[in-house]
Amino acid sequence: MERFIAERFRSFGGGLALDTGAILKYTDLIDLSIGDTDIVTDERIINAAFRDAKAGHTHYGDPHGDPELIDAVCRAWNEDFGQSIDPERILVTASSCLGMSLVMLGILDPGDEVLVFSPYFPMYREQIELAGGVCVEVPTYASEGFAIKKERLDAAITPRTKAMVFNNPTNPTAMAYGADTMRLLAETAKEHDLLIVADEIYTSYMFSEPFTPMRTLPGMAERTVTLNSFSKNYLMTGWRVGTIIAEPALIKTMQRINGALIYTAPSVSQRAAIQALHDREDIRARYIREYRERVFYAAERIRSIPYFELNEPHGTFYLFPSIRKTKLDSARFCAELLEKAHVLVTNGAAFGKTGEGHVRIACTVGRDKLCEAFDRMEKLKF
Ligand SMILES: Cc1ncc(COP(=O)(O)O)c(C=O)c1O
Repeated sequence: MERFIAERFRSFGGGLALDTGAILKYTDLIDLSIGDTDIVTDERIINAAFRDAKAGHTHYGDPHGDPELIDAVCRAWNEDFGQSIDPERILVTASSCLGMSLVMLGILDPGDEVLVFSPYFPMYREQIELAGGVCVEVPTYASEGFAIKKERLDAAITPRTKAMVFNNPTNPTAMAYGADTMRLLAETAKEHDLLIVADEIYTSYMFSEPFTPMRTLPGMAERTVTLNSFSKNYLMTGWRVGTIIAEPALIKTMQRINGALIYTAPSVSQRAAIQALHDREDIRARYIREYRERVFYAAERIRSIPYFELNEPHGTFYLFPSIRKTKLDSARFCAELLEKAHVLVTNGAAFGKTGEGHVRIACTVGRDKLCEAFDRMEKLKF
């Protein structure tokens, strides 16, 4: 069968794939590798989807997205960030994974380059390459607090650079970039005529300061594509619904591609998303605090384990400690941790060149399990 596989996909991907066989043998496994909220979607959202499905929202919808959802997105954006958005600048699609793919398919010609700040969400590379582009890593380092440095950014730009992906707050590093970094990126984008693809799907999980969207910076609305998703901010990963905000010409192009791929985002999930936006303040207050508490608890435990080093977390529900003191590479460390403590974490090397020497810990299990996982880790010596 392999001979039928397209040449360009024979060495494609890898991403976060795990050897499930090796993992399943541990019946007391604690899995800290999952980037999915462990809490079930709020009941009000589920009930709204059920009610609307019974009322007939079971068909294909508007190719741009449910008009009521688009209206709710525009209203929420204005209320939260004081910026008005025209409905023609919004496309609803099935998740930000698909959203990012649509952006890349919409903007890239073969060989065009896209900058990503390493360590980065691994699917970016696949989404860029799937669209015929080249993924160029701009390194950031734990030793520098994962700061984005102007000289490294400038050095990565070539005549083929078309866009940069900016994920704020950041999976996997738990960074949340502030005004100075955003200004640097905005100025660089203007100077080199680049698009910024702002992946803003963890914005509820900001721990140090309130979130500022990239497109609200002066002059940036027309060169920013904003990706939002209901997955993390509303604990709705399985509903597969997200939105893209961009200039109308790009929205039109992406809508045609989206049409060819899925026609429309799931109707029932879009009805659920309307309810999520309606209850957003309460949902944040009710659930996000739980994740924040877990993150800070886990950070404290990590800091008391001598073989880890950790930067202050500022956002998301991940932590990305260094394991350099163990003198093991990340893959070996993950394997030994699994074998000795039956705790599964993600190999930092999966997140790009500067991810090596780190592991990602997702605080997507309850406090008791987190406690048990760190009790086990504390007993280990490397
Ligand atoms: C940074 C980042 N972007 C995008 C996604 C994809 O989210 P979804 O496709 O569920 O919207 C994830 C999921 O973990 C992520 O961490």
